Amino acid sequence: MKTLLSLTLLIASPIFAQSPQAGKDLTWAYPVPDPSPGAAAAGTTPRQIPGSSRSYTQAQIDDQYNPPDWFPDEHAPLPNVVQKGIQAQACGSCHLMSGMGHPESATLAGLPVAYLLRQMDDFKHGLRKDPEIHEKSLRAARMNIIAAGLPDEEMRQAIEWFASLKPSVWYKVEEAQTVPKSWVNNGRMRLPLPSGGTEPLGNRIITLPQDPARVEARDPHSGFIAYVPPGSLKRGEDLVNGNTGKTVQCAICHGEGLKGLGDIPRLAGVHPIYIVRQLFDFQVGANTSSAAAQMKKVVEKLNEDDMIAIAAYAASLNPE
Ligand code: HEC
Ligand code: HEC
Repeated sequence: MKTLLSLTLLIASPIFAQSPQAGKDLTWAYPVPDPSPGAAAAGTTPRQIPGSSRSYTQAQIDDQYNPPDWFPDEHAPLPNVVQKGIQAQACGSCHLMSGMGHPESATLAGLPVAYLLRQMDDFKHGLRKDPEIHEKSLRAARMNIIAAGLPDEEMRQAIEWFASLKPSVWYKVEEAQTVPKSWVNNGRMRLPLPSGGTEPLGNRIITLPQDPARVEARDPHSGFIAYVPPGSLKRGEDLVNGNTGKTVQCAICHGEGLKGLGDIPRLAGVHPIYIVRQLFDFQVGANTSSAAAQMKKVVEKLNEDDMIAIAAYAASLNPE
């Protein structure tokens, strides 16, 4: 009941009602499912991944209320909410048991407790929206619903657990003119088309699994490749270092190497399409917390190409 009420309030709030041309040319950063290009994998054969003695069927892997924990020795015991979820899907199904997450969700591993708790509180109270592109408008989604339904104690347990994880290198960033043709599956993950082929990248960032089969198994050791437009890395470096006059030096607040500072989050090695979503969301006012106000000025003059370049460069930095 409470969840429904807060969701109604969120949807009724101006940013969603006005459906800004938000995401107009950035739909690739807010992936929505495409029609499936082929038959889904059979769910009954047990699968394994390199280095793990466990096995799960695809149906178990895709169970958002009890997702796989391939490497239980690599983390502290799982809080119930991370493994099974409370009133909503398990955190581990979208953010993985490594906390590194997928491009369509977010990396949580090793971020400061104070930062993560603030985000949950902001999602809960609708100060930060997790926008989902829906019929050409934005609507409140996933994290707003999840945070609204979560008791404080379980929220704290989940956040402290994610904050305790060590981040790992999760991306290879490559400048490219052409990229494999791809589609977005029901879980909003972009995958290469089984029929192959290539297409121009244009002004986008396309993220694909380095090994689709392993990533579809929610393997927390198998990361992504980000194809970015030629010249993005240098341009991103110049923007981040404050050399362009368009924005300020990010390291002042996000720390050296963008590894985070105090309760300001790390950007190094973070999913680049997630970074683009955040920069854009700050710009259009999908995040109206007082902490987000510090970012409002930073993003004011950035255009889409700047956001792409910044995200490409930040994703290429070592988070470890
Ligand atoms: C159904 C998938 C899903 C589940 C389950 C889920 N999340 Fe998320 N989470 C997301 C998505 C998607 C985003 C990114 C939103 C955006 O792009 O702004 C996100 C973002 C976040 C963020 C913000 C990260 C940042 O860097 O600011 C936090 C914190 C978070 N989730 C915590 C949790 C916790 C704790 C749980 C379990 C109680 C959980 N999530 C369960 C999908 C999920
Ligand atoms: C004056 C301090 C300040 C500066 C300078 C700054 N940031 Fe931030 N940034 C913040 C704060 C504070 C947050 C967290 C906001 C919140 O809690 O909602 C943040 C959050 C972000 C996020 C969202 C991270 C996440 O996990 O969701 C991104 C992306 C980001 N900043 C990018 C940048 C970039 C790129 C630059 C440089 C061009 C920059 N910031 C410069 C203070 C700053």
